[in-house]
Amino acid sequence: MINKDDVMKVLEKIDDPELHRSLVELNMVKNVAVDDTSVVIDIALTIPGCPLKAKIHKDVTEGVSAMPGVKTVQINFSAMSQDERKTLTEKLTGKSKYAGFKDVRPKHVIAVASGKGGVGKSTFTANLAVALAAEGYQVGVMDADVYGFSMPRALGIVGQPTLIGDMLIPLENYGVRLMSMGFFADDDNPVIWRGPLLHKAINQFIADVHWGKLDYLMIDLPPGTGDVSITISQAIPEAQVLVVTTPQAAARSVAGRVAKMAEKTNLKVMGVVENMSYYQLPDGSKDFIFGKGGGVELAGQLNVPLLGQVPIETRLREGGDTGKPIVLSPEKSPAAEEISKIARSVIRKTMEQAAPVASVN
Ligand SMILES: Nc1ncnc2c1ncn2[C@@H]1O[C@H](COP(=O)(O)OP(=O)(O)OP(=O)(O)O)[C@@H](O)[C@H]1O
Ligand SMILES: [Mg+2]
Repeated sequence: MINKDDVMKVLEKIDDPELHRSLVELNMVKNVAVDDTSVVIDIALTIPGCPLKAKIHKDVTEGVSAMPGVKTVQINFSAMSQDERKTLTEKLTGKSKYAGFKDVRPKHVIAVASGKGGVGKSTFTANLAVALAAEGYQVGVMDADVYGFSMPRALGIVGQPTLIGDMLIPLENYGVRLMSMGFFADDDNPVIWRGPLLHKAINQFIADVHWGKLDYLMIDLPPGTGDVSITISQAIPEAQVLVVTTPQAAARSVAGRVAKMAEKTNLKVMGVVENMSYYQLPDGSKDFIFGKGGGVELAGQLNVPLLGQVPIETRLREGGDTGKPIVLSPEKSPAAEEISKIARSVIRKTMEQAAPVASVN
């Protein structure tokens, strides 16, 4: 005879793919029936027609089939009632001791900023997030560029987030959870946000999104140093800023702007990343298309480290267009190597910061 408790123990280790909590903890397991060789499990999905039903089916079947003596596993799916869903939402949101994030606060929040547009913030954010996830961390990306969202494409994510109660579930790819205004707008109609609405949209991305447990939340900021950074600094004062620049001398005036933004918002600048640093020519020499020195100079002015210099690469741009971040490419890429190196520096720096302080929970 198969033991029911043993089945529950297996189910306790299987997470809902969207909510990142155990099926048992989420009260999704409604009944388990066993006999000599077979197990029948009743599972209530959070919403009817849950897109991840197949994944849950597979995980449960695999997990339970691996138990000694189990020959067949049958799963009956139903959907939670409204009351059950309400209890679930309360369970997921009720634990928060903080304003802002529901559930738990991310361990580290890193906002990617630049003084001017088009320097590669979004491309870098996507690749850094994927590189951090590849190192085994739980990573989320908040696309705070609500006008010019580019994260869904960069991370190869299409679709609409599930809404459970008043809670939005991020979409996920490459182990990175993403929330973006791009999921709610179509490409041809620009979204126009006025100040207060912009503030509200960003705050909803923080408060009404079920991020789950995150080691890193990356925030892709819009170009410049405007309202969004202020909203973020108010809601997430512990956020740190990574500044992206090109090597161009114009970085000098930009440095002033970013420094002022950081000062005004009290956000700590973690480091500078120089992007589009050079183009590697076939003969091994480097073409410094955008000049030299911008990164070093900006880092010096902000008194923070220069974390890396990412070369110009066609495949990096292509990866952004096709939703296949270059850091995952098996082919050799100096840009990917540099971004992975920066990811390791970010991990080291955030670890150092976390080390001496005891957890405040
Ligand atoms: N190192 C690089 N090599 C080649 N192309 C790059 C590189 N970095 C960025 N790009 C390309 O440059 C363009 C601008 O990059 P991206 O959109 O990431 O910049 P951004 O700073 O986020 O822009 P915005 O300020 O509009 O948000 C994109 O087409 C991207 O693919
Ligand atoms: Mg961008």
